[in-house]
Amino acid sequence: MIYKVLFTLAFTILIRPGFSQTSLKDWGLKYNKHIGAAVNNLFITLPKDSLYTQILVKEFNAVVPENQFKFRHIHPQPGVFNFSITDSFVDAALKNDLYIRGHVFVWHQALPEWIDTGAFTRTELLSILENHIYTIMARYKGKIHEYDVVNEAIKDDGTLRTSKWRDIIGSDYIDSAFVFAHRADSSALLFYNDYNAEIENIKSDAIFTMVEEMKKNNIPINGVGFQCHFMLDSVNETLMDKNIKRFARLGLYTPLTEADIAVPSNQIGTPKGLASQANDYAKLMRLCLQNNSCNSLMFWGYTDRYSWIPDFWDDSKGAALIFDENYRPKPAYFSLIETLKQNAR
Ligand code: XIL
Repeated sequence: MIYKVLFTLAFTILIRPGFSQTSLKDWGLKYNKHIGAAVNNLFITLPKDSLYTQILVKEFNAVVPENQFKFRHIHPQPGVFNFSITDSFVDAALKNDLYIRGHVFVWHQALPEWIDTGAFTRTELLSILENHIYTIMARYKGKIHEYDVVNEAIKDDGTLRTSKWRDIIGSDYIDSAFVFAHRADSSALLFYNDYNAEIENIKSDAIFTMVEEMKKNNIPINGVGFQCHFMLDSVNETLMDKNIKRFARLGLYTPLTEADIAVPSNQIGTPKGLASQANDYAKLMRLCLQNNSCNSLMFWGYTDRYSWIPDFWDDSKGAALIFDENYRPKPAYFSLIETLKQNAR
């Protein structure tokens, strides 16, 4: 009887198709890639033994705070920094050997009221920005080694987005933000981050021209992050590879920073929906493994229990992540592991 139990157990653990004893994290360490997830406040509020934290710590070697470092949250009033949450977050991440991507200093969204409605001169807003970046980077120097400095500054048509930053400072706010960040911590890696720029198109061309110019002018930028918020079946591996490589030729890192694959509601949970999603995730992993410039593959969350997608798409799409709402690994998870294994052969 006991042998039967042991045998069944061994079979389940070792041989069950698709099952892997190895976590994404182990593979990430092997390949020297950050494989991580955006994390919400549950990481610091739930007990350590909660499933949320257990799986996070077992599966990933990196995290990115989903909202905590955004301007409105960390700097809600003039001169007032709310570091209690970010401090707990950084401590918890480091205690669990999780590398941290800082996200984000300059964005047109998540601005506090005082910035949104304030009347500033160019000089005043530049100095607010410099102080914002300096205060955060100085606090986490030696703990956070990379930041998204500017997020989503370019529109899909390739023009510079209007925003408080651009309207008051002018288009050189982007250069200034990178210069301030480099001054604050010269050892940190600094990124421009955007969506819909994963393949060659008007938008990624504009970003390319911008960062090429920045490099020429010695603006301290180290990489371009491709967010990778995709709809099911829309990851084009060949075109992405081509695009990644042109940025890499500029000497830039090309992390995939916010990956999720949104499933149309009528395909959620269907075998076809799950299989297509698995296939899409495998492509992203392959791209990252095959490009040295891809230092990180970060998912925008890891469990469908907590994902921004259903809200953002009014529930017409969802189930975008690699674990389901009950923390069970989906085919997407196993396809990532399988891709990592194949790459090792
Ligand atoms: C999203 C968060 O996931 C939501 O919780 C929040 O309400 C809005 O922002 N691109 C980015 C991320 O760079 O910061 C966004 O995160 C998703 C799109």
